[in-house]
Parts: sequence; structure tokens; C-alpha cells
Amino acid sequence: MSLLNPRLDFAGKTVLVTSGPTREAIDPVRFISNRSTGKMGHALARAALARGAKVILVSGPTDLPVPLGVEYVPVTSAEEMYRRVRDYYRDCDVVIGAAAVADYRPRQFSQQKLKKGDSDLVIELTRNPDILAELGKDKGNRILVGFAAETQDLIANAVDKMHKKNLDLLVANDVTLEGAGFGTDTNIVTIISRQGDTTPLPGMAKSDLANVILDRISELF
Ligand code: CTP
Ligand code: CA
Repeated sequence: MSLLNPRLDFAGKTVLVTSGPTREAIDPVRFISNRSTGKMGHALARAALARGAKVILVSGPTDLPVPLGVEYVPVTSAEEMYRRVRDYYRDCDVVIGAAAVADYRPRQFSQQKLKKGDSDLVIELTRNPDILAELGKDKGNRILVGFAAETQDLIANAVDKMHKKNLDLLVANDVTLEGAGFGTDTNIVTIISRQGDTTPLPGMAKSDLANVILDRISELF
């Protein structure tokens, strides 16, 4: 795709991308989170914008600049991310879930900073909503795309996730590979489709991978 002559195959489409980690508060000074930096989600938002989409970027905390021209919706927790995604869902044509959403949050938020005692501390966790799975229950004509971060049985786990969440495409990510997953500028993935084909891709820049993923989405329009 040339920068001087971009393909506007997403013109007229509204694309919502989730990006970054979520933070689940324990007390006013502490939280549980993960290693996501938002690079993949933000790259997808930029690429979709360049291809003519209206882009809503719902992102947890990252150090990345906000891509110019996207509607940026900053969030902190998984529950907040879910609420904000719901606010926009009706008008979306495509949702890409690139965020590393925390699966659990502390059952109790302590209004006061927890004080240490002499014994061990146990924090009870409760399940967060599965954002993509909830959207999948009420998908309509939308195209839903997910990621799967796996450390074992990549394809089997990924296929399972795609069907459970009612997704059209799933980008399977072996996060143990060097040059893949969290924090890197490159990624090595396999794209799996609802139709059952499996496309292993060579390692490439996340910005290039974003365009390959968008190519696969635009085939479904
Ligand atoms: N996801 C989501 N809401 C959650 C958890 C995950 O929308 N509460 C989305 C992610 O954005 C990603 C996909 O679901 O697109 C898969 O995330 P992943 O963590 O790999 O899978 P889980 O279904 O959470 O399963 P597990 O962590 O147990 O492997
Ligand atoms: Ca998870």
C-alpha cells in the first residue's frame, strides 16, 4: 500500500479498536495489570484511519501518543472499557479487540491504603466481563476480530476462543516467541478465520501486520 496513493477500502466504515492493558485497583495506590503496551492496538487504529475508516480507540493506560484523527476514549479498568465499548457498539461496523483485558479484578476495593501486617496477604479476585464474548452475543452484521495470547497449544486454544466469542477472525499470538507479543515492535502471528483457514505469517512490524489484518477484514465487507 503506497502512502501517496492509499487504498480507502475502509471509507464509510466505523472501526472500534481496544488497546493497551487494563488496571484493576486494589486500593488507592495499587493495581493488578499486565505487560501490554498498546503497540498493536494503536497500530491498527492508525492503519484503519489511513484507509479511510472512522476510528474509535478505547484504550487502557499506555505511554503511546494518541493517533491524530481517532476518537480517543481513555479507560482504566476492564469494567470501564466494557461500558465505553458498549456506548459505541451500535454504530460500529468492525470491532477489533487488541486490548489485554484483565480477566479478574479484586473483589473488594479498599478505600484506604492497605497496611501491611505480619502475616501473608490474600487478595480475592472476581471475574471481569469478557468484552468480546459479550459483543459476540449480539453481533448483528458486525465483523468481530480478536487476539489470542497463548504460551502453549497456540492453534487449538485460539480456534476455541474464536468460536466461544463468536468472532470472524482471530489473530493467534505465541507470546513466548522472541519478536512477538508484549512490548515489541514486531509480531509473529497466525490468522485464523471462522471459515477454518489458518494463515501463519512471518515476523513483521506491528504497523505492517495491522495492514495485513485489515486486508483480511476488508475481504469480509
Ligand atoms: N478479551 C476481552 N475481554 C476480556 C478478556 C479478553 O474482550 N475480559 C479479548 C481480548 O481483547 C482478546 C481476546 O479476548 O482479543 C482473547 O484474550 P485472551 O486473554 O487471549 O483470552 P481469554 O479469553 O481471556 O482466555 P485466557 O486468558 O484464559 O487464555
Ligand atoms: Ca485473558
